[in-house]
Amino acid sequence: MSKLHLGVLGSGSGSNMQSIVDAVEAGHLDADIRLVLADVPDAKILDRAKKHGIPSMYLDCAPWKTKLEGPAEDKCISLLKEAGVDTVVLAGFMRIVKPKLLEAFPNRVLNIHPAILPAFPGVHSWTQALDYGCKVAGVTVHFVDAGTDSGPIIVQKTVPVEEDDTPETLHARIQVQEHLAYPEALGIIASGKYSIEGRRVRIIKG
Ligand code: GAR
Repeated sequence: MSKLHLGVLGSGSGSNMQSIVDAVEAGHLDADIRLVLADVPDAKILDRAKKHGIPSMYLDCAPWKTKLEGPAEDKCISLLKEAGVDTVVLAGFMRIVKPKLLEAFPNRVLNIHPAILPAFPGVHSWTQALDYGCKVAGVTVHFVDAGTDSGPIIVQKTVPVEEDDTPETLHARIQVQEHLAYPEALGIIASGKYSIEGRRVRIIKG
């Protein structure tokens, strides 16, 4: 067991960060959140962080729109290191992270994706699942590698797709599972009881 020192990157509401904060505050996860960074100045995730006394700031990632690179990437790494972060949590961070960040935190960058990977990487995955006619959808928490939504899988959870689902109702059902999946995955990392063997994350029971 080793307490995790988390740095969270987000772009939106921050409900996943909230689920991690709740798990920590309830004593279910041995971690603290050292820093929250958002690439959107008025992202709700920043308000949520402030409410819980967690240091947070806007990270200007211009001129890039879809990736974290260049001076913003350097600044991000410095801020995370200065804050004592050992594990980086992408929680609705809508940018591709590049090898420099991954090399600064080897096997310690996690992402949550609203689909059962490898199906439907990219954006609006719940709409992709609905349009494809899937009968199940879900969520994946995985280590981040150099690809897009392609790293070794830690936790997956499924939900049914209902006949009358809209993208919004399906995403809401997936989010309920997201809020269980991220604390669970981080609990596995904190326990130290896992190994990464190629693509497979082996979880050691007991
Ligand atoms: C979540 O559904 C997350 O899985 C998704 O963005 C949402 C963020 O919600 N992430 C991606 O699509 C990444 N490709 P939140 O801001 O409330 O945590």
